[in-house]
Amino acid sequence: MSNLPPKEFMPKHVGLIMDGNGRWARERGLDRSAGHAEGAKVMKRIMDYGHDIGLSAMTFYAFSTENWKRPQHEVDVLMDLFKDYLKEADETKYEREKRGFYLRVIGDISALPLELQLLAKSVQLVMKDKSAMVVNLAINYGGQQEITRACRQIAEEVKKGKLSPKDITEETIESHLYTAGLPAPDLIIRPSGELRLSNFLTWQSAYSELWFDNIAWPDFTPDDLDRAIMDYAKRDRRFGGLSEKDH
Ligand code: FPP
Repeated sequence: MSNLPPKEFMPKHVGLIMDGNGRWARERGLDRSAGHAEGAKVMKRIMDYGHDIGLSAMTFYAFSTENWKRPQHEVDVLMDLFKDYLKEADETKYEREKRGFYLRVIGDISALPLELQLLAKSVQLVMKDKSAMVVNLAINYGGQQEITRACRQIAEEVKKGKLSPKDITEETIESHLYTAGLPAPDLIIRPSGELRLSNFLTWQSAYSELWFDNIAWPDFTPDDLDRAIMDYAKRDRRFGGLSEKDH
C-alpha cells in the first residue's frame, strides 16, 4: 500500500544514484559483483514502481565516466549486467511501449563494447505516446562531459553560421543535453550515505531537491521511494523566489 502525496505534489522526474552495492556485498561476505547484480534487480523493481505511481521520467545512474578507474573485473561485470539487461529490454520493447514506458540510454556510448552500443540504440523506440514514462539509463555518463559536448555542438552551429552567439540561451544548451525535452529532475535520490552528486545531471540539477539516506541501493524498496517522495512533497520549492507565506 503506497503512501504518497496528492498528484500536484508528486515529482515528475526522479533521478537515482544507485550507490552502496559494494558495501552491501561486503557486509554479506560476497564479491562486489553480487552487490551490482542485486542492484540491477532493484533498479527494475523501482522502475516498475515509478511507472505504477505515475512518474513521467526516471534517470538511473548506472556507470559514470569515472567508473572506468575501477578494477577491470568489476568493469567487466557491470558491462555484462548492462548487456543482459539491454538484451532483455530489447526483446520486450514493444510490450514496454504498450505498458507506456520508453527506455533511453544516456551518456557517451561510443566508448562501450560494440554489442552494447548496438543494443543501446536498438532499445530506444521513437516515442509515440507523449504521456508515457521515459526511463534514462545513464551509462558512461558525466554531467560535465554532457555540458562540454553541448558546447561543442553549439560551437559547430556557430561556425557553420546557423546560430549567432548572442542567440545562445539556456534553452539552447538544454536542447543539446541528453535529457532534451524532459523536465529537469524535481528530486534526486542518493542512498548509501554519501552527500554529493558525483557528476550526475550537473546542469539539470540546478533546482532539484536532494534526498540522502544511509540505506544501500540493493536494500532500497518502493517504500523508500515513497519516503523520499513524501519528504520532497513537504519541501518549499522557491526556485530563487519567495515562498507563498512570505508574500
Ligand atoms: C556504486 O556503488 C554503483 C555503481 C558504480 C554501479 C551501479 C550499477 C548497478 C546498480 C547495476 C545496474 C544494472 C543495470 C542493468 C543498469 P558502489 O559499488 O560504488 O558501492 P560502494 O560505495 O558501496 O562500494
